[in-house]
Amino acid sequence: MDKQYLKQCVNKIKVTNLPYADVEVENHSPLKMIGKGRQGAVFKVNDDICVKVFGNEEDCEREYYALSLGKHTDLFPMVHDKGPLHIAMDFIKGVDLREYLQSQPLTEELSFKLIQLLITFKEIGYERIDHHKRQIFILPNGHLKVIDVARTVWRDRVYPYPRKLINSLGEEYKKTFLSHVQKLSADLYAEWSHYIEMEKLSRHITKKLLTQSSDKNSLLIESLLNSKVEKEYRKRLEDLVYKVFKDEWVKVMLAKGVNPDVIMDKIEEKMEKLQVDNGKAKGKDEDHYIGFYKNSQSKYETAEYGGAQKRKNQPRPRGRSFIIR
Ligand SMILES: Nc1ncnc2c1ncn2[C@@H]1O[C@H](COP(=O)(O)OP(=O)(O)OP(=O)(O)O)[C@@H](O)[C@H]1O
Ligand SMILES: [Mg+2]
Repeated sequence: MDKQYLKQCVNKIKVTNLPYADVEVENHSPLKMIGKGRQGAVFKVNDDICVKVFGNEEDCEREYYALSLGKHTDLFPMVHDKGPLHIAMDFIKGVDLREYLQSQPLTEELSFKLIQLLITFKEIGYERIDHHKRQIFILPNGHLKVIDVARTVWRDRVYPYPRKLINSLGEEYKKTFLSHVQKLSADLYAEWSHYIEMEKLSRHITKKLLTQSSDKNSLLIESLLNSKVEKEYRKRLEDLVYKVFKDEWVKVMLAKGVNPDVIMDKIEEKMEKLQVDNGKAKGKDEDHYIGFYKNSQSKYETAEYGGAQKRKNQPRPRGRSFIIR
């Protein structure tokens, strides 16, 4: 292949990415386009080689990197030339799986080859162990070849089973393929079936969530509002303040090298006792405080205030406390 000639041709091809659509192509070269997709357009260079011209450099780098990971296997087209926006590679002379399955059955042997393909994907370090059937070609000798591998690497999200491959097979062949997988490995079948079920369930849940009326939602939300009921609101606020205070206090205790759990147990014991005494002796409506106060040496200690001190008009000590009724 004349690389200089190839470069001249590629320079006369302009490929533009479009949102949610195949690329737009302006071809002023003598090369014939054989196909296109979202990332690029592919042109025949000669009987054995084609060139994929990309709409952007990142997609080109990504596909080149993915192809280079698999170059020691026979699953991918060999790369002959690479530029910032093009990759020249073997022209695959075969039938893609989508076309093949229109007229031919999905045999156990073919399913086995597909599993082997996924094993190779995993071995060479692809992140997405999955591929659409239209990007898998069957050669006249029965071997498989895979094109369009950019999306197997540099991914944010991957799925735990080959959902693209399985779903692309269609309902009937999906069942056939899974029955072959079951024969080959009960464990793999069990794992994929689990994820397929999870996906079904998620779909079902999403539908439910989307169809729930906004009335129902607002009713549910109402029931979560604490501030509507004054008593409820006060209690929740008190609990919240207590929680924040407890967290902060634990930090202080830890900083002082004291085990907060031991002290907390003692406090809770005391609180329980106080609550009982409170009910018995002090009358229900009288405020009674317990808390952590700073003493004259600026050290925290637990103390209580209420009842007798209050009646004698003694001021409440400064510190963090909460009310026990
Ligand atoms: N090496 C090859 N040999 C033969 N045909 C090829 C080859 N590479 C690509 N093609 C053809 O060109 C078409 C577009 O190529 P490809 O799928 O790589 O483009 P893409 O823009 O990356 O697609 P997608 O939108 O799926 O990412 C393919 O469907 C196939 O028909
Ligand atoms: Mg692609």
